[in-house]
Amino acid sequence: MNANGKAGTDARWPAIRFTVNGESRTVNVPPMKRLLDVLREDLHLTGTKEGCGEGECGSCSVRMNDELVNSCLVPVLQAEGAEIQTVEGLALDGELHPLQEAFLHNGGAQCGICTPGMLMAAAQLLAHSPHPSEAEIREGLAGNLCRCTGFVRIFESVAAAAGASQSEPAKEPELEQTHHAR
Ligand code: FES
Ligand code: FES
Repeated sequence: MNANGKAGTDARWPAIRFTVNGESRTVNVPPMKRLLDVLREDLHLTGTKEGCGEGECGSCSVRMNDELVNSCLVPVLQAEGAEIQTVEGLALDGELHPLQEAFLHNGGAQCGICTPGMLMAAAQLLAHSPHPSEAEIREGLAGNLCRCTGFVRIFESVAAAAGASQSEPAKEPELEQTHHAR
């Protein structure tokens, strides 16, 4: 990356600008270069993984403008002006995201190749359905393949993460009561 915050510096190519994990980024790369490769090679965000490279496995999933996309199928030109979230954008201030904690504690990851994509698919699901049923979890992750876990622990991890966030609002009445008791 150069002093202007540009990642790709080849002046032959027009600048393409977008936001990744809340940060404005500019790349000068061939417009048809895959978003997956721009993330990994030009922005050094190697959390996003390549599995099939053909839109079949979901390993390369990222969130773009609040949609889950296979970054291996997205020419970077399509990302112009977009808001993108990758797996690197899940943790906040050094704290793992509840989904990451849940995968860690429930055996949701083994070799790890599918894990970033699974996490992003799960993040997309929970953003729109914070308390998903098992069927909704299965459907939300249907585009993501895992060769290791047999899926059950992944589904359990997502359910656990949803349960963790469900428990947070339950604390509010206690806080309210404490406040009134003063
Ligand atoms: S690597 Fe993109 S869907 Fe498999
Ligand atoms: S943990 Fe290995 S492919 Fe899912």
